[in-house]
Amino acid sequence: ADPDPLQDFCIADLAKTSTPINGFPCKPASNVTASDFIFNGLAMEGNTTNPFGSKVTPGDVLAFPGLNTLGVSMNRVDLAPGGLNPPHHHPRATELDIVVKGEVLVGFISSGNVYFSSVLREGQMFVIPRGMIHFQMNVGKEKGLVITTFNSQLPGAVVAPLALFAAKPAVPNEVLTKALQVDESVVQLIKSKFATF
Ligand code: GLV
Ligand code: MN
Repeated sequence: ADPDPLQDFCIADLAKTSTPINGFPCKPASNVTASDFIFNGLAMEGNTTNPFGSKVTPGDVLAFPGLNTLGVSMNRVDLAPGGLNPPHHHPRATELDIVVKGEVLVGFISSGNVYFSSVLREGQMFVIPRGMIHFQMNVGKEKGLVITTFNSQLPGAVVAPLALFAAKPAVPNEVLTKALQVDESVVQLIKSKFATF
């Protein structure tokens, strides 16, 4: 979904973020070496000791500046047994998931509120069309590992529960009670669960 590059490569100079362009400026080509095209950050298992039991380790342009202008990126998603990568969407990319380990319930909900899902095992892939709300849940007894790929260097992620209940400044309770058709105490309870996020 990203625009095409205008040069062979453009290793992001993340320090120059004040420049208002779509992406990052390039570091000088004379300073570029093979290590600019290597990223080790997805080699390590993520720590899933948190309320969701999951950890997304990003391999986007911010983590791997070599991706700048190339229109692709990858994450690793570690899932404890029962762990959930909570419902979220990516405003700028389609996502292609491959299960590396475990039994993973993957689902998305389309614009017409149709729920599409499947339990995937090692080697199986699932595509999440751009912008659709989706999740991954480990329904097996072992650890799960999913590698997710994107047609954007920076797909962005809006996590539904956090967007609604952990935004700063907060979304007003009157909006949430009306939207969800519940009492304010319910909204306050959910907000309290995400107070530290
Ligand atoms: C998983 O859905 C991810 O966005 O990495
Ligand atoms: Mn995703």
